[in-house]
Amino acid sequence: MIIFKIFTFINLSTLVFAEIYNFPNNFIWGAASASYQIEGAWNVDGKIPSIWDTASHKNNSSIRDGSTGDDAGMSYYYYEKDIQALKDIGFEVYRFSIAWTRILTKANQVNQKGIDYYNKVIDGLLDVGIQPLVTMYHWDLPQYLQDLGGWTNPAIVKYFEVYADTLFASFGDRVEEWITFNEPKTFCNGGYGEGWDAPEIKTAHANVYHLYKNKYFTKQQGKVGICLDTTFSFPANENVTDELVDKAMHFSLGRYANPIYSADGDYPSVMREAIDQRVKMKGEDALNYYTSNLIKPSLNPADSDSEIDSSFDPSWKRSASSWLVSVPEGLYHLLLWIKDHYNNPLVYITENGWSDLPMTTEDDGRVEYLREHLATMSRAITDGCRVEAYTVWSLTDNFEWMKGYTERFGIYAINFTDPERPRIPKKSVDLMKQVVRDNFVEV
Ligand code: NOJ
Repeated sequence: MIIFKIFTFINLSTLVFAEIYNFPNNFIWGAASASYQIEGAWNVDGKIPSIWDTASHKNNSSIRDGSTGDDAGMSYYYYEKDIQALKDIGFEVYRFSIAWTRILTKANQVNQKGIDYYNKVIDGLLDVGIQPLVTMYHWDLPQYLQDLGGWTNPAIVKYFEVYADTLFASFGDRVEEWITFNEPKTFCNGGYGEGWDAPEIKTAHANVYHLYKNKYFTKQQGKVGICLDTTFSFPANENVTDELVDKAMHFSLGRYANPIYSADGDYPSVMREAIDQRVKMKGEDALNYYTSNLIKPSLNPADSDSEIDSSFDPSWKRSASSWLVSVPEGLYHLLLWIKDHYNNPLVYITENGWSDLPMTTEDDGRVEYLREHLATMSRAITDGCRVEAYTVWSLTDNFEWMKGYTERFGIYAINFTDPERPRIPKKSVDLMKQVVRDNFVEV
């Protein structure tokens, strides 16, 4: 429902209207992060090296500012500051990831100190009424598994199951919601070359889902999902057909979402020929949405699998990240596309956010981006989409992968040279406080 509210009189003849977009009473608000991006303490308490330790420690590494996640926001030491920051806003859920490299040694033995750390985080959250939403794999693969071929080696499925089993057994009495993989499309394309995804991801996800269902569900009653990312594809001109838009969406989202959510449990027909494995299950969709693009048939079809070219509309506002422009309508259309194609599943928006540079608390660009995206999310809910939760990316400024600290996504700023790493609220913290308190956003 949209209510019009008059908030400013400029003069008697001119009124400025703000629109109010409501959210359902039981809507769940929170923030998200990932282990390597925030924890630091890269070689402490039995943690083994991950592929990101290797990549960032290389001489002349490809990370833009030559930085590493060795210290980052030091959440390994200052996790209580994160919990306080969440609590100050009134958030009810915190999506964070567990570092595989803290939980198991190279010999696949449990590292108790790693378990102790995440117990402190989980218990600290629950003590103040915040639910943990845990990602098992947010890209920090143990280096020794990469040396065996990483996600291209079928043996990794078993390793991932042992890891997941350890997580369910250690934390499943308190963690009710699990995400197996964060953005498989991104880390497969980035880590294993453009093109088809490393196939073992699908099997590993399905096996862990069934492990939970068969071994833990009766006692723990939780949920296991996967976190998919996609843009929305708008036609670049009036000659672009709906079929092409659908094809682009299938290449971006359907490649993972179809086997999980579609009635036939199969890959999208536009992709089927190229893939020979199947998994089938039901669940919620955990969705990362940041941006959209314009699509049209490719002039050089051989250059891409989908034979589709994409671009940005020059009017779309740009963030500090080259790939991220603000297209709030894309979120609306994406949610409706999911509703129509996958029989209206429950959706959690597990990432959505904006980058700026340099460190600042005056993040007006983020405030505007969040307001507009929350408004389109509200419209999609009004139009029947079953979105139940939203976790903003990200709680704090953090290590932005290949971009190091040059792109900042936090709603709290961090000065990475300050040894105490205070979490400093940006303007967007005030926005999120208001949204959580009132359950509406004004645009
Ligand atoms: C998606 C990834 O999950 C997260 O790790 C990253 O920082 C954000 N996108 C922003 O690029």
